[in-house]
Amino acid sequence: MRPEGPVKVGILISGRGSNMQSLVAASQGPASAYQIALVASDKPDAAGLAWAAERGLATFALSPKGIGKPAYEAAIDQALREAGVEVIALAGYMRLLSGEFVRRWQGRILNIHPSLLPLYKGLDTHARAIEAGDAKAGCSVHIVTEQLDDGEVLGQAEVPILPDDDATALAARVLVEEHRLYPQVLTEFVRR
Ligand code: GAR
Repeated sequence: MRPEGPVKVGILISGRGSNMQSLVAASQGPASAYQIALVASDKPDAAGLAWAAERGLATFALSPKGIGKPAYEAAIDQALREAGVEVIALAGYMRLLSGEFVRRWQGRILNIHPSLLPLYKGLDTHARAIEAGDAKAGCSVHIVTEQLDDGEVLGQAEVPILPDDDATALAARVLVEEHRLYPQVLTEFVRR
């Protein structure tokens, strides 16, 4: 039996953290099903980390450089557990988690990916969708497995690809949908 009250979520980021900000904003209502227990990053200078710290959220930063992936992931894992984290939300976390880490958190790591999975796993999703002549693009929230951008898709949002779109314009349109989709799917996930 888990304790009563909101589910404790740990967010992993590598950059500006706009998706993290939308998850934090949605968690601050009195009826939120989740609360943010920790924001952690592999980039100590990530802009999103400073944003979180300024707002009084618990943060943890560690670069894997110099210590290696196993020690790095062990430290992240420990920080998450010490914060009481029950579910991990990857939000622009640009590092591949090891199979060992994923197995330790089996079924409890979510990711947001800027494509309509199973299309365009990996990087440069918007450029690839435009290049392919697709009529639409979007974003997906999925459960993280040991395979890159794989795992059950929990929710998606679509946007049209417009004739004059370049990757930057399309990314901005998709990002608006990411900010709406992720809190909604995370809320449904922690309630299920
Ligand atoms: C978002 O578009 C997210 O979907 C993408 O990186 C951006 C991070 O922005 N994630 C990936 O590509 C993961 N493979 P943010 O830091 O402002 O949330």
